[in-house]
Amino acid sequence: MLTAVEREIKASLEDSMKHCMKLRTAWALLLLGATVVPAWAQLEFAQQKNCLGCHAVDKRVLGPAYKDIAAKYAGQPDALDKLTQKVRKGGSGVWGILPMPANTQLSDAEARQLVRWILSLK
Ligand code: HEC
Repeated sequence: MLTAVEREIKASLEDSMKHCMKLRTAWALLLLGATVVPAWAQLEFAQQKNCLGCHAVDKRVLGPAYKDIAAKYAGQPDALDKLTQKVRKGGSGVWGILPMPANTQLSDAEARQLVRWILSLK
């Protein structure tokens, strides 16, 4: 039989274990959220969405290199929103005279995911 004190210790230990598990789950979800898709899968996704017909990660094709885009917008907090819109709607005049056609096949979330990846490139 456990004494009252032992029971109390056991209960509080169990409690903090539970708390710990919750924290760990929260962390795991956070980490997952931050890195949902590894870099190679992002590249594959960009391929599937036809971005790589005009773009490459580190050289200019028809459109600018993704690394150049990342460098240009580094430290601009509104770049993610702005570029997500641009990718979906298309546009021109930032990198030269060639326009990027609208990519209407992308959902907002997909475009955002691609732009987040592009902006993370170094
Ligand atoms: C038909 C060719 C073409 C395709 C397909 C294409 N792009 Fe572009 N992209 C361009 C061109 C050209 C520019 C430069 C536009 C400019 O100068 O404003 C550009 C610019 C960009 C920019 C920078 C925009 C800016 O204002 O700085 C991003 C980000 C981008 N593209 C992402 C994507 C993504 C993601 C996809 C796939 C969903 C994609 N592009 C598909 C041609 C293309």
